[in-house]
Amino acid sequence: MSAPEVWYESYGCQMNAYDTEVIEAIFSGRGWKRAAGPESADVIVVNTCSVREHAETRAIGRLHDLARHGNAVIAVCGCMARRIGTELFEIEPRIRIVAGPDAYDRLAGAVEEALSGGGTFALLERDHGVTYRLPGSTGEERVTRYLSITRGCENFCTYCIVPYLRGPVRSKSPETVVHEVVSLAQSGAREVTLLGQNVMAYDRDGVDFPGLIARILRETDVPRIRFLTTHPRDVDRRIFELMANDPRVCPHLHLPFQAGSDRLLELMNRGYRRSDYLAIVEEGRRIRPDIAFTTDVIVGFPTETRGDFEETLDIVEQVRFDAAFTFRYSPRAGTAAADMVDDVPDGEKRERLAELNESVRRIRGEILAGLVGTETEILLDASVEKGETRYLKGRTVHFRNVLVPAEGLRVGDFARVKPGRLRNFTLIGEVAAGR
Ligand code: SAH
Ligand code: SF4
Ligand code: F3S
Repeated sequence: MSAPEVWYESYGCQMNAYDTEVIEAIFSGRGWKRAAGPESADVIVVNTCSVREHAETRAIGRLHDLARHGNAVIAVCGCMARRIGTELFEIEPRIRIVAGPDAYDRLAGAVEEALSGGGTFALLERDHGVTYRLPGSTGEERVTRYLSITRGCENFCTYCIVPYLRGPVRSKSPETVVHEVVSLAQSGAREVTLLGQNVMAYDRDGVDFPGLIARILRETDVPRIRFLTTHPRDVDRRIFELMANDPRVCPHLHLPFQAGSDRLLELMNRGYRRSDYLAIVEEGRRIRPDIAFTTDVIVGFPTETRGDFEETLDIVEQVRFDAAFTFRYSPRAGTAAADMVDDVPDGEKRERLAELNESVRRIRGEILAGLVGTETEILLDASVEKGETRYLKGRTVHFRNVLVPAEGLRVGDFARVKPGRLRNFTLIGEVAAGR
């Protein structure tokens, strides 16, 4: 049999995106090529998310679509495979493999068997020791790369399904992380984003998260380091000091606050109060005044009143986030909140969400408008066509997008730019100098 061609799709969080790269690296190690599209693929890998009901309905819809054309072996991986398991074989009979997040080492074997015979394969055993790493050279040459430093979460926020699907926290050894950063940098990465459900939970061989960053700074030469996500309960001020003292550590913190009222934070089991959250933001800005904050927010959690919601809006107004990912509460079976009455009417959830998004957008626009005419450095990470003109897109250290005319520049370059105008939340500028 000739080597199969594989089509990959990844949904959900950045950690899923990283896992999909791991799966692809394992497969390409066997000589399996990436397919040009799902129609021509021999194998389709769909890495799924279960965080909200909507994520699952969309994934299932997509799986039905993929099943309709072509004869590929379909493998469903990730959180929804873990949660729904073998029932997926009934939901869409063309699915041949389901593999939970601990089983990717065994996935290629199952694919080979599925290609050479009939039957279905369920790789659903839990193995809470598993961490993955990208092999030395992945053949992938992108400028910005993800790197998971932990797997799992044991915070049990009452609305959240992740701890049930991903298991308890485990951290990769500092040596493994450093090796991975080095090999990503060797294959062209100029910026590495360290990932974990809560990177502050990193703890291995006596090294904590700020210690890990310090080590990466010392032992690698990757020009930019970012990280996601930080839990407000665990933020360590040394993180701000690293941002203040080393230009390689990007001054951007993704710090989900979820809800603005202490009563809801308690019901969510978040472990901090609104005053604690605001104090972290203040401390961050004291140590690194230009730091950018982004966040996640849930509206319509059980018992949320208009008053609670106004406290959420108030945090948005006070902190002035660069961006916020905002969600309507979605009950997940098996979580503690699923036992509470989902009593905020859907219409009310939608209205609150729209109102929240309006504030977030207004503030985002104001922050970006304030940058017009200033000079800043971007790392060029993509090429974009707009009408007749070809632009390159880059990001500032604060994770803000700027477009510049492509002439004389390449993806992977750093450039000093001057944003001249703002269009659809994107700054458009001129190059002041290359580097
Ligand atoms: N580990 C990260 C985020 C995990 S999930 C953290 O703790 O910040 C990403 C976001 O999805 C969460 O921050 C939360 O805002 C949202 N989310 C999680 N469960 C949800 C649910 N049941 N309904 C609506 N939004 C949810
Ligand atoms: Fe879910 Fe909370 Fe863990 Fe984030 S910290 S993954 S929201 S349980
Ligand atoms: Fe979704 Fe699993 Fe990530 S539920 S958000 S893919 S950890």
